[in-house]
Amino acid sequence: MDEVNQHKEGAEQPSAKTDEVMVKIEHLRKCFGSKEVLKDINLTLHKGENLIVLGRSGQGKSVTIQCIVGLLTPDKGSVKVFGQEVAELSNDELKELRTRVGFLFQSGALYDSMTVKENLEFALTRVLKIKDQQELDQRVKEVLEGIGLPEAIDKMPSDLSGGMRKRVGLARTLIVKPEIMLYDEPTTGLDPITSREISELILKMQKKYKTSSIIITHDMECARITGDRVLIMNDGEYIAQGTFEELQHSEDEFVKSFFLDTL
Ligand SMILES: Nc1ncnc2c1ncn2[C@@H]1O[C@H](COP(=O)(O)OP(=O)(O)OP(=O)(O)O)[C@@H](O)[C@H]1O
Ligand SMILES: [Mg+2]
Repeated sequence: MDEVNQHKEGAEQPSAKTDEVMVKIEHLRKCFGSKEVLKDINLTLHKGENLIVLGRSGQGKSVTIQCIVGLLTPDKGSVKVFGQEVAELSNDELKELRTRVGFLFQSGALYDSMTVKENLEFALTRVLKIKDQQELDQRVKEVLEGIGLPEAIDKMPSDLSGGMRKRVGLARTLIVKPEIMLYDEPTTGLDPITSREISELILKMQKKYKTSSIIITHDMECARITGDRVLIMNDGEYIAQGTFEELQHSEDEFVKSFFLDTL
């Protein structure tokens, strides 16, 4: 960590809303073949906090998120979600965990053979086992209004633009109101206005439901709007952390390079 934030482990001083720890990663290492992608990742996500992860392409940001939801297994180290070691969970426990953790993949895939409404209902019926049609209709309507796409309700994914698909993918994750949200580049490929709307939606979710989120992004405006705390990743580790403003004024050349256009 650079001079911006020299707190020792266990003494992080985030602007988190509470001290409750939702995700704790310690000394995570992950290799693919001979390539060591994650070397020593340490991260704490507190309840109600929006944590931003910045880093160049191919650094292992998405790999980190996949370790959190148990899609990838660490080679070394510990990944705890709600206090449970993810690698030790049974299949059923992992399923249960995934009902409480929403993740928006970078690709944000929808089911192509289903309408937008069916895609959204699917999450509710499958994850939350909601059967009451009136409640399903109400929640679908509410979330589509939230993402500003009420008119898309009966469309097929193929009839939507890339940006619209991304927003529906986000709606499908948010509709089950997960306690933890993992956003992998939520605004990539969107125009600046839509990006801003998505960023504000992430903020709204945090405030309304006390959602705790990890937000991977290259979009500095998104980081500025949504982030309580920012981590900067390089070469398999986090090399700096602080608030957006603290890092923006860092003396470190590498940290500065992320904030060049924000001043
Ligand atoms: N399942 C996998 N098998 C083998 N290699 C993988 C796998 N997943 C990721 N990698 C490799 O790990 C490295 C990090 O990938 P990752 O997708 O996490 O990068 P990233 O930081 O999310 O980049 P970007 O900003 O471009 O999304 C890459 O070199 C990638 O090729
Ligand atoms: Mg990625």
